[in-house]
Amino acid sequence: MSDIETLAAEADRSIAAAPDLAALEALRVALLGKQGSVSVLLKTLGAMSPEMRQSEGPRIHAVRERVTAALAARKAALEAAALDLRLASETIDLTLPAPEAPRGAIHPVSQVMDELAEIFADLGFAVATGPEIEDDWHNFTALNMPETHPARAMHDTFYFPDQMAQRTGEGDAGKMLLRTHTSPVQIRTMVAQGAPVRIIAPGRVYRSDSDATHTPMFHQIEGLVIDRGIHLGHLKWTLETFLKAFFERDDIVLRLRPSYFPFTEPSVEVDVGWENVGGRRVLGGDGDAPGHGWMELLGSGMVSPRVLKFCNLDPNEWQGFAFGVGVDRLAMLKYGMDDLRAFFDGDLRWLRHYGFSALDVPTLSAGVGAQNRMAP
Ligand code: PHE
Repeated sequence: MSDIETLAAEADRSIAAAPDLAALEALRVALLGKQGSVSVLLKTLGAMSPEMRQSEGPRIHAVRERVTAALAARKAALEAAALDLRLASETIDLTLPAPEAPRGAIHPVSQVMDELAEIFADLGFAVATGPEIEDDWHNFTALNMPETHPARAMHDTFYFPDQMAQRTGEGDAGKMLLRTHTSPVQIRTMVAQGAPVRIIAPGRVYRSDSDATHTPMFHQIEGLVIDRGIHLGHLKWTLETFLKAFFERDDIVLRLRPSYFPFTEPSVEVDVGWENVGGRRVLGGDGDAPGHGWMELLGSGMVSPRVLKFCNLDPNEWQGFAFGVGVDRLAMLKYGMDDLRAFFDGDLRWLRHYGFSALDVPTLSAGVGAQNRMAP
């Protein structure tokens, strides 16, 4: 039965020479598959005399085992070689020089907005937005400022030409304008989602005004809480908690003064006490103490029942408070810039000095005060 030996020797040779896994699989089928030569050999056992079967059976089975083992060994060798090749081609050259230090900086306004979002998220506030090109109804009328209201004159509004309202399909809502405050987001949020509400709305606002502390575009952040049984105490606690977290001082003292906004009743102007530290006014401490003072910081109040009605909310069921504060001003007070116009000049030297590292993400656990200024 030398053909068995020949077949086994040939199988050994071709298995060892199989160049890749696909060729090896073809060999396996040709040897051990249904019509494979080893299988065919096994089938001849049936036709043999019992004596022959006794002597040939073990030889043929031995060949099958030998071929099976050779196939498995070759397969393992081919796979190991493929892995070696991949490892060799995917090396990282650790001797390459490190990349240059990152360029660019986070603008203080962006940084402060991130800080505010982090603080208010912890108090359960979601972030809401609205359009900067707003209609008259959302910016004024629904905030209880009808067309003839004198408060409108205080806003130095940028209006669009008359055709704009028709073009945007908002003709019914009156003239289009650049929003003069973030308060229209109050209206949009209440109309869209009803009550209860707990949002902040940061964004750009526009007024025709320009000097060292006023720019035609600046940033505000609006806060709005609507729920059952909300009162001035909730407003005061919220502002106090927010300002203590933002300025990272426990001794922030607030003074609430009666004021007037058409959309809040009562309206409250909030002052913060400051003290003199090396010729600079730093927030903190009792403003009435000698050498201290008060700084007007933000406008707020209880949402007017008329505003709630404009938003289809029943003032007998729902109450709320709102506040609006200048983001640029918060940044100036916290990080010590004194000219607002520089915020928008795009001067690289200013940005490098006052900008923040992109890696310095404000978190409540690590602190919302930025540690890693780009430049000392
Ligand atoms: N929108 C007001 C402003 O821009 C601020 C404000 C917001 C006052 C919310 C009261 C309530 O001056």
